[in-house]
Amino acid sequence: MRILSGIQPSGALHIGNYFGMMKPAIALQAEGEALYFIADYHALTSLRDPGALRENSRRVALDFLACGLDPDRAALFLQSDVPQVTELAWILGTVTPMGLLERCHSYKDKLARGAAASAGLFTYPVLMAADILIYDSDIVPVGRDQKQHLEVTRDIAIKMNETFGDLFKLPEPRIHAETEVVPGTDAQKMSKSYRNTIEIFGAEKETRKRVMSIVTDSTPIDAPKDAASSAIFQLYSLVASTEEKEVMAAEFRRGGTGYGDFKKRLFESLWRYFAPMRERRAAILAQPNYIDGVLARGAERANAIADKVMARVRDAVGV
Ligand code: ADP
Ligand code: TRP
Repeated sequence: MRILSGIQPSGALHIGNYFGMMKPAIALQAEGEALYFIADYHALTSLRDPGALRENSRRVALDFLACGLDPDRAALFLQSDVPQVTELAWILGTVTPMGLLERCHSYKDKLARGAAASAGLFTYPVLMAADILIYDSDIVPVGRDQKQHLEVTRDIAIKMNETFGDLFKLPEPRIHAETEVVPGTDAQKMSKSYRNTIEIFGAEKETRKRVMSIVTDSTPIDAPKDAASSAIFQLYSLVASTEEKEVMAAEFRRGGTGYGDFKKRLFESLWRYFAPMRERRAAILAQPNYIDGVLARGAERANAIADKVMARVRDAVGV
């Protein structure tokens, strides 16, 4: 079984990325051949600062390793170290109906938020399909917002198979039910583009500030509160033990505790939860060429697979 996922180096990773994609991806590395990459070509649709892109890409590699990606099991590499994906993306684009891309929520959302309508942004899902199909991937762990892109990938694969014979496997998304959508400090989906994130490796003071800024309703301290609909409780559920969770849920129901107290407890649990990752991160940073070595080894493994699949594709389409 081959498992594949990618993450854009468009900014600092946050706990939505961690619980939605990185943690499930790390758990899956023991179950098959895992390939995880840093989608730097995709990030070019929003980031046009070469220094920042390079820096972010390394930082995503560092953070992913710190969170538990084991480079002896999973290959970690840069998307752009396998430039064959852009060739495959072109070929896939020739069979992709415009309507399929026009329906993509992510494209429409980005335009609504003010992004310029570039061809790259529009064909983003075609490159993503190439990322997935070029490794004959079986399973793709992602957060719920990427589900539609997986459907597009499957549609493109079906179209290719109908046109050129049995070329591609149909990949399955793996969406972790409990962490489908991790809320941000404004209780909307946590996202780098909404400025509502809590970073995985933010400084202590800043992280506390972010947690204390979570929006709440105006229920008075003494009144009972609804835990299930509270972003504080939802986030706490991700990092607290079952007993701690039950205690907090009971206090929400009973009333008498203010949101500020709950937030303080959330911060403490969150800070504790990521402590081992922070330690590992410091240890990695102390080894100067470690990240470069991991990325080079990962790229080698990924290229070996991609070359084979591309030979098959080129043969099938006649180039
Ligand atoms: P962002 O929205 O912050 O730009 P990305 O689009 O780079 O995040 O997402 C990287 C991965 O993390 C994807 O698999 C995505 O589904 C997942 N992810 C991002 N935000 C969340 C969230 N709030 N809840 C669950 N998963 C998320
Ligand atoms: N579009 C994904 C995101 O924004 C990143 C990505 C690019 C990806 N290619 C992929 C994810 C292939 C899974 C598989 O999060």
